[in-house]
Amino acid sequence: MRGNNVFLGLWLTMASLSRAIHNPIISGWNPDPSILRVQDDYYIATSSFEYFPGIPIYKSRDLSNWTLISHAFAQPDQLQLYGTPTGAGAWAPSLAHFDGRFWIASMTRWTYDPVARVWPRVFFASSVDLIHWSELTWADPWGIDPELFRDPLSRKTYLNLMAPNNNQDRLWGIYQCEISLQDGSCGTDDQHRSTIARSRSAEGPFEAGPNNPLLFNGAYGFDNLTVQSTGHATMVDTPSGEWYAAFLARRKINGSSPLGRETFLTSVTWKDGWPIFNDGNPILLSKEVGPVTGKRRIPDPFVEDFSRQKMDPGWYQLRTPYTKNFNVRRGSLELRPNVFSLSDRDTPAALLRKQKSLNMTFSAELLGFSGTLGPRNQVGISSYLSEFQHQDIGVTACANATGLCLYTELRQNQTLQYHQVPLNTSSLKEPLMLHIRATPLRYQFGYSLGNAVQPKYITEIDSSWQAFAPANFFVFSGASFAIFATGLGEPWPRDGPVVGFKQVTETYYEENIPDYDVWDKE
Ligand SMILES: *[C@@H]1O[C@H](CO)[C@@H](O)[C@H](O)[C@H]1NC(C)=O
Ligand SMILES: *[C@@H]1O[C@H](CO)[C@@H](O)[C@H](O)[C@H]1NC(C)=O
Ligand SMILES: *[C@@H]1O[C@H](CO)[C@@H](O)[C@H](O)[C@H]1NC(C)=O
Ligand SMILES: *[C@@H]1O[C@H](CO)[C@@H](O)[C@H](O)[C@H]1NC(C)=O
Ligand SMILES: *[C@@H]1O[C@H](CO)[C@@H](O)[C@H](O)[C@H]1NC(C)=O
Ligand SMILES: *[C@@H]1O[C@H](CO)[C@@H](O)[C@H](O)[C@H]1NC(C)=O
Ligand SMILES: *[C@@H]1O[C@H](CO)[C@@H](O)[C@H](O)[C@H]1NC(C)=O
Repeated sequence: MRGNNVFLGLWLTMASLSRAIHNPIISGWNPDPSILRVQDDYYIATSSFEYFPGIPIYKSRDLSNWTLISHAFAQPDQLQLYGTPTGAGAWAPSLAHFDGRFWIASMTRWTYDPVARVWPRVFFASSVDLIHWSELTWADPWGIDPELFRDPLSRKTYLNLMAPNNNQDRLWGIYQCEISLQDGSCGTDDQHRSTIARSRSAEGPFEAGPNNPLLFNGAYGFDNLTVQSTGHATMVDTPSGEWYAAFLARRKINGSSPLGRETFLTSVTWKDGWPIFNDGNPILLSKEVGPVTGKRRIPDPFVEDFSRQKMDPGWYQLRTPYTKNFNVRRGSLELRPNVFSLSDRDTPAALLRKQKSLNMTFSAELLGFSGTLGPRNQVGISSYLSEFQHQDIGVTACANATGLCLYTELRQNQTLQYHQVPLNTSSLKEPLMLHIRATPLRYQFGYSLGNAVQPKYITEIDSSWQAFAPANFFVFSGASFAIFATGLGEPWPRDGPVVGFKQVTETYYEENIPDYDVWDKE
């Protein structure tokens, strides 16, 4: 039995080498990857900010094909994202495995308000199966990018994190303390920092690496490369002793990155005991990691027809839902709209999916309804970045006329451009599909009615607006697609129609993004 497992392990290792790895390995916003191997399985956890459930965990057997398997924080009492602004929330998870359990250390930043002085707080939790998680333990120190480390020699557990030295001087560095897994209390600090440092003992002294920075595409005149903002790397070895690093990077499209920070992988070699990433070369989008086995695969279409008990795990809500605001039944998704919209720092009746490709179409078929919508009742789909930047197409009562209208609302830095097309009906009887066509440089908004196959696109906006934050806010995530309904500040009318969706489809096309961020036209 044991011999078989060893054999299987070797076989899988060899199998992994027969498949090229294309970057990004996890597309769509997935920043701050932490990679871990346990026997033959690899795991990556990434940041989730104001999205719920929090901290997605992906699994792979070959470093190439990654499947979303669970979320560390799927219970409302584990993740209290109430009124959380864009870019705050749960960040920078790190994975570890010891004592027969998986461990995640992560942090929350509930808000950025400098007056409120709410600092990032560090916590950890553990799980045997990555599905059922312990309660959270809050750590003593505050800071960012926490990591639990079990020293195999001393068997002591350490917390490493970026933190200020004290609240007066606020000198940030990498700190380490011995931590109690029971109550999160910390022993004495060791104070060292560098891009990489090494030590024979977890207690130091640490020595800075000679090849720093390990990973920096902006350097050496490479600031015109598509892949930028490389960083936040964690390393993993394969059972056969090869090394790789998972890291975050942006794909820059004419200067901005609508998909935010995605998860990338590169090879690691060792010289004099120090790691060298990608043989010291910048990261090119066209360069495969591992053997060259041909073109990037176009992902299969994604179809959610709401016929299964459990929806795909890749659906999110904004912030922690106070109440259930959707129902799946008889192959339909019924939304229970509330007073909140996608522009509020609250939980609207909306379900979101990360945008996974720079060349794809997101389509959704509305549930038909009889009865009509009021001027503050909207149901539709959106390219969503934040409460400030979301680009919507939907159905509502016509402005300045009777009946139902299709509308688009496009937002650019707090200006709103409204456009409407009358549906020439007062209730929705014919099937209506809404479409968002995403290309690297723009989003187009359209619809198809009845049996019309070809969508009719009515408005468009530059994709750079889905990488924009107003002053004093940040863009830490990337664009998602949403399906939503809202009463725009008013409760949904008691006698209002039941609104929702019959089906959601994502269609992917080839993604030929150049190595250099140079675009003449699409
Ligand atoms: C990727 O892995 C998943 C889960 O194991 C599997 O269902 C899927 O077929 C794999 N895809 C490819 C392209 O190998
Ligand atoms: C990118 O920048 C480098 C260094 O400035 C320059 O030599 C190279 O020609 C540029 N490449 C492109 C495609 O613009
Ligand atoms: C409706 O009428 C108001 C007042 O004339 C005008 O400001 C607004 O632009 C109109 N809305 C649409 C969608 O035509
Ligand atoms: C956004 O609006 C603010 C306030 O009007 C202005 O100062 C800023 O320059 C604008 N930014 C962009 C990119 O348009
Ligand atoms: C409704 O009728 C108007 C005027 O004929 C037309 O412009 C519009 O395209 C029609 N709407 C739809 C959805 O076909
Ligand atoms: C996007 O897909 C379309 C349709 O397959 C293709 O014509 C176009 O070249 C693709 N664009 C990019 C940037 O890959
Ligand atoms: C790239 O962005 C600039 C503004 O920064 C704009 O003027 C130009 O038209 C864009 N290029 C394309 C191909 O969209």
